[in-house]
Amino acid sequence: MTSDDAKRRAAERACDLVQSGMKLGLGTGSTAALFVAELGRRRIDILGVPTSEATRRQAEALGIRLATLDDEPELDLTVDGADELDPVLNLIKGGGGALLREKLVAAASRRMVVIADSSKRVPQLGRFPLPVEVVSFGLETTRRRIAACLRELELPADIRLRRSADDQPFRTDGGNVILDLRLGEIPDPHGLAAVLKSTLGVVEHGLFVAMASLALIGGPEGVIEMAG
Ligand code: A5P
Repeated sequence: MTSDDAKRRAAERACDLVQSGMKLGLGTGSTAALFVAELGRRRIDILGVPTSEATRRQAEALGIRLATLDDEPELDLTVDGADELDPVLNLIKGGGGALLREKLVAAASRRMVVIADSSKRVPQLGRFPLPVEVVSFGLETTRRRIAACLRELELPADIRLRRSADDQPFRTDGGNVILDLRLGEIPDPHGLAAVLKSTLGVVEHGLFVAMASLALIGGPEGVIEMAG
């Protein structure tokens, strides 16, 4: 079974949770795109709030009704992918650069369900570089501030500016840039989340701590459910 097949299984299972009339947060990334495609295929009448311009375009093309978070500040459910998830469903997100909108939409939802293939499950977060969205003004000062925080926490200060295919700094939908933190392991996701959140210049980080209530993990044996 390919990773795409596994992702599709998880996406289809998540669609079973969707009922007509729901207000849904629509995630970003290849797994979330399979979920949005399945929503379109099943023609379930929902109102969607997309977490990126890419997802907005995909949903629009499928005829899914859309709203903004300002129109609909309270959502029933968000379904989104993840770059890593640990046994208690703390997540790393933002590999696709949509972490800020993803977090805003998930935080506005009564329930966040993660869909993934089994390669995303890890005993401890940190193997995947942690995306941190920062303002581009004074970038070097923010990078130094983050490096100092990491040293304080005895974590490696290997911080890389994300670049696009044309070698320009990658820009998020909000016009900010992303620093990827190669940490190897994150022994205390709560602590690191708090430190990053209070660092000047940081807009948001990709640690989603205690936000997801369910993960649907696709694999050859079917779909495994993990509760948060
Ligand atoms: C987008 O910014 C991310 O948070 C994605 O949800 C995450 O990178 C998972 O993407 P895939 O489903 O493509 O692996």
